[in-house]
Amino acid sequence: MADLSIEVNGMRFPNPFVLGSGPPGTNARVISKSFELGWGGCVIKTISLDASKVINTAPRYGKLMSRENGEVIGFENIELISDRPFQTWLDELTELKKRYPKQMVIASIMEEYRRDAWHEIVERVEKTGVDGFELNLSCPHGLPERKMGMAMGENPEIVKEVVGWVKEVSTIPVWAKMTPNVGNPTVPAAAALGAGADGIAAINTILSVIGVDLDTLRPMPTVERYTVPGGYSGQAVRPIALRHVMEIARANPGVSLSGIGGIETGADAAQFMLLGCQTVQLCTGPMLRGYKIIDELQRDLSAFMDKHGFKSIDEFVGKSLDAFTTHADLVTRQAAAKAGNKGQTNRDAETWKGDIEKETAALAGN
Ligand SMILES: Cc1cc2nc3c(=O)[nH]c(=O)nc-3n(C[C@H](O)[C@H](O)[C@H](O)COP(=O)(O)O)c2cc1C
Repeated sequence: MADLSIEVNGMRFPNPFVLGSGPPGTNARVISKSFELGWGGCVIKTISLDASKVINTAPRYGKLMSRENGEVIGFENIELISDRPFQTWLDELTELKKRYPKQMVIASIMEEYRRDAWHEIVERVEKTGVDGFELNLSCPHGLPERKMGMAMGENPEIVKEVVGWVKEVSTIPVWAKMTPNVGNPTVPAAAALGAGADGIAAINTILSVIGVDLDTLRPMPTVERYTVPGGYSGQAVRPIALRHVMEIARANPGVSLSGIGGIETGADAAQFMLLGCQTVQLCTGPMLRGYKIIDELQRDLSAFMDKHGFKSIDEFVGKSLDAFTTHADLVTRQAAAKAGNKGQTNRDAETWKGDIEKETAALAGN
């Protein structure tokens, strides 16, 4: 098996598969279970200083199923950050790091827009011995009403300020977790890196409405007949996440990047690495398929590496990034290729003609 270990910002991951912040890292008991099964690390469910302000609803999940076989392809949640007491978390993190010194424990934190609150949470959590921080600047629902989460992440000025506050006191690596609910993801990422963030994690969930119940006529998930738009995750978001990490990686060559969004297999993970990620995080995948997928993830990534002769992950991080160009360049390249191969061109031209006729007929309703 290829060497799957990887070092990022001084953190040594036994393998690049990290549980993403959410239900899979909801307390020390389940995190321990995942470490026993072989996960390389865990970003814990986001915590804040005052959990009493966090009140969840039920139901809070919705699913988009495949028409063919009922497989869950998209997932919406309106879940908030952790509602467990801060002190409980501090005790559990201390214990967790004592028991699992080799696996990476990254504390996902979120606070109100106050410098003293961010200083306090960083200082108190760092004392537990966690390996790094991930700043949740990206939760798209519930928290923005309190000017937290995505309300910070969509505003580059605030990203810069908050990351700066954290870096004033943190002595361990800090990743900024970005929201995909922006037009140009490189702008808030640049603000975070400019303020000293050691790395970027992307993406958090995409604002969404999973559907409308055709019996009750109420949108889902329905809480006392009402709802709010929630965060979309799972396989369906993977192409959007790939585009986000690609843009961030291309704008910041060599950046420390943790890829998130719809990753469920070793092949999915390899694609994020080829577009610039050293580690990957999985949340909906293990929620739907269980922690035991870690064996399959490692086996498949290793098989991919063997097939291409890659001995370490560093050898192929970002390897596919240079395939992105402009549309004008694609046209030039294709014209040059056609000029260089007349026979092929004629056959292609016939195929395209057929395609265009078919598409035109479809549009005209024939
Ligand atoms: C039920 C649920 C709860 C989540 N809670 C958090 C959270 O507390 N903090 C956070 O940063 N991201 C949270 N996320 C977002 C995930 O960490 C991840 O960014 C997103 O779901 C995309 O990855 P995935 O497709 O592997 O789930 C949550 C996602 C889900 C589905």
